[in-house]
Order: sequence, then C-alpha cells, then structure tokens
Amino acid sequence: MANSLTTNVTETFQKIYGEQPSMLLQAPGRVNLIGEHTDYSDGFVLPVAINLGITMAMRPREDSKVRVYSIDFDETMEIDLSDYQNTNDSWQEYIKSLAWALQEDGYELRGWDGVMAGNIPIGAGLSSSAALENIAAKAFALASDFTLSLAKMAILSQKGENQWVGVNVGIMDQLISAAGQQGHAMLIDCRTLEYEHIPIPDHVTFMVLDTMTRRELTNSNYNLRRQEVEQACEVMQIDLLRDCSQAMLCAFQEQLEPLIFKRAHHVVTENDRVLRFGEAMRTADLQKMGELLNQSHASLRDDYEVSSKELNTIVEISQAHPACLGARMTGAGFAGCALALIDAAQVDSFKQYVYDNYHAKTGIEPNIFPVDSANGVQVL
Ligand code: GLA
Repeated sequence: MANSLTTNVTETFQKIYGEQPSMLLQAPGRVNLIGEHTDYSDGFVLPVAINLGITMAMRPREDSKVRVYSIDFDETMEIDLSDYQNTNDSWQEYIKSLAWALQEDGYELRGWDGVMAGNIPIGAGLSSSAALENIAAKAFALASDFTLSLAKMAILSQKGENQWVGVNVGIMDQLISAAGQQGHAMLIDCRTLEYEHIPIPDHVTFMVLDTMTRRELTNSNYNLRRQEVEQACEVMQIDLLRDCSQAMLCAFQEQLEPLIFKRAHHVVTENDRVLRFGEAMRTADLQKMGELLNQSHASLRDDYEVSSKELNTIVEISQAHPACLGARMTGAGFAGCALALIDAAQVDSFKQYVYDNYHAKTGIEPNIFPVDSANGVQVL
C-alpha cells in the first residue's frame, strides 16, 4: 500500500514538527466477499483486508495533547486528552472516538503528534472509517505504552464509532482491518469473534466495481435496518437473528409483518450462504462461490433493500460477462461498490466491458480494480 504514502507522511511530519517521526503505522480498508448486514445479528462474515488504507507517521509526546494533521483534508486536529468535545468534525471525531473509548475502558492515555494520509475512497463502502479508528487505537497504545489485542482493538474501535460518532455499525470492518492476512479472506464468527484465514483460490480475481456513487452512513437507512431486525427478534423472542434458523423463521412468518419477515429472511439465509461460501473457498469450488455471490446480491436487493439503481446496474452488467462467476454489492450498500469474482485470465476484457456498458447506461465513469489483499494493522 504504502510506499508513496509512507514518504509523504514522513516528509510532511518533518516539515510540520521539525523532527523525524519515531513510528510509522498502517491500517487497511476491506472488501467484504459475503456476509452483508449479518455482523450486528451476531452472524458470519467473510471479508478481505485490501491494499488501500491509511498510513500515519507519529511521535509520542510527554503531555496530554494530541495533534494530527490530515494531508488529504489539509486540516489539523488538536485536543487535550483531559478535555475534548464532540464537535462533529468529520475525520477528527474518529480519532477522538478512540481516545474516548480507551479512556472509558480505563486506559491512561498520553499525547502524540501525527501526520496521516490515505488512499481508500471515502464513503465507497471500503471501510475508510474502520482503518482510521484502528490506526488511532494503535497510535494511542504506542504513545501510552500498552498493548491491545486485535480483538480488543476492534471492539473499542466499534464502540467509538457506535457511541461517539453515532453510527451503529457491527464489528466486521474493525476486526478485518485489525486482523486480516495477505492472500487470505477471513471467516469471522461475529458472536465469538473467532476467525479463520482462508486462502484465496488461484486463477480467480475479485474485482472491485466502484459505481462512483456515495452515501453518508450517518444519514442512511443503516440504523433503520438494525431496528427492523430487532423487531423481528422481539416477535420471535430471541436476542439476535443468529439464534434463528430458516425453519424457525418460516414458523413465525404469519406473526411477522411482511417487511420485517423479508429483513429477517435476508439475514438468516445470508448466514447460511457465508458458511457455504467458506466451504466452497476451502475446496476452490469457484462455480459454487459465484452462485452464492449472485444469491447474496438478490437477497440484499429484494429482501434487505439496501442496493441502489447503480449497484444493480453494475452487478447485472458484470454477471453478463463470460469471465464472471458471480457478482454482488458489497459493504453497507445504498451506494458505493460492488464486487465480482472473475477468471483471472480475463481481467482486462472484463474491465473494459463493465466500464463501457456501465458508462453507456448511467453516464458515470466507474472505477474498476482488482482486490489486492493485505495484512491488518501494522507498525512498519
Ligand atoms: C458497514 C458496517 C459493518 C457491516 C456492513 C454491512 O460496513 O460498518 O459493520 O454491518 O456495513 O455488512
């Protein structure tokens, strides 16, 4: 990911603070292969950490001030750890959210100076926020001389985003950005937080299909979907949809409002698809993997209703290309990116075909690139 970012943050750090940074950190974004809108029901997900992310140059301070300059936003955040407020300042709140979550958890924090830059498209559904949260968690831990397990880092990053930023996200993005492994996807059980790294099969490529449409998660229907699945649980008297089988859901169909039934139906069937996709991936059953991706898209479009016109268009175009084994929207939805599993030998013709057809239908130029897997948060 990082060569040009590393040079950029290091040189900028020297210019601003007049010294070399003492540490360089890196955190990746992610693409979710399958398991969408299942994490907050304690279900299963299967994301990959990608070679796009955030790089931070930093140096611990002796006092309780935190100063971070963002090259991308050309803005500086400056806070004192003994007194800071939520001022709704976009990226800055994600760093403050970690100060808050760590302090709430009893950690004694010391200050640090930092310079950061990233290359994840923001709002595209590739988890720029989770990367920012994890890199802030790591910076606080290094500056304050404590270690955080990867699971703990993910839990506190999620807590910060839920309670400080105010978006009720699940644990997937934070955990994959913390614990991803190059060359592998990660099957996560969001109930136990246990995970398994599954090698990405040879001869296929996952392509990211960025529709170039954007959403604001805070303004989206994301929190509404969470309420809808909670309603389903209330009727069935269970804590979370992880505890619901397809047979059980069918037994309750009469008692659930049709819309609530559809929402629950997506989650319950998607959990099953994730486990089957994991099996297919272990045995490199590419056809099966593709079919499950197509089914996941249909379920997100029709049952969960988190797709969009552009996402459906790019997925349908992709599915029509002979190299494509399967395609679906990825991430929270409403806008952003889809994903296609294709024959690695046909990357160029696939890319050209999807570009031309999507552009012709929507007037928008999409951004199409292969998923290049990466490791989770690291000190370089
Ligand atoms: C966002 C959230 C995740 C997950 C996905 C949908 O990326 O951050 O926790 O819920 O949406 O699968």
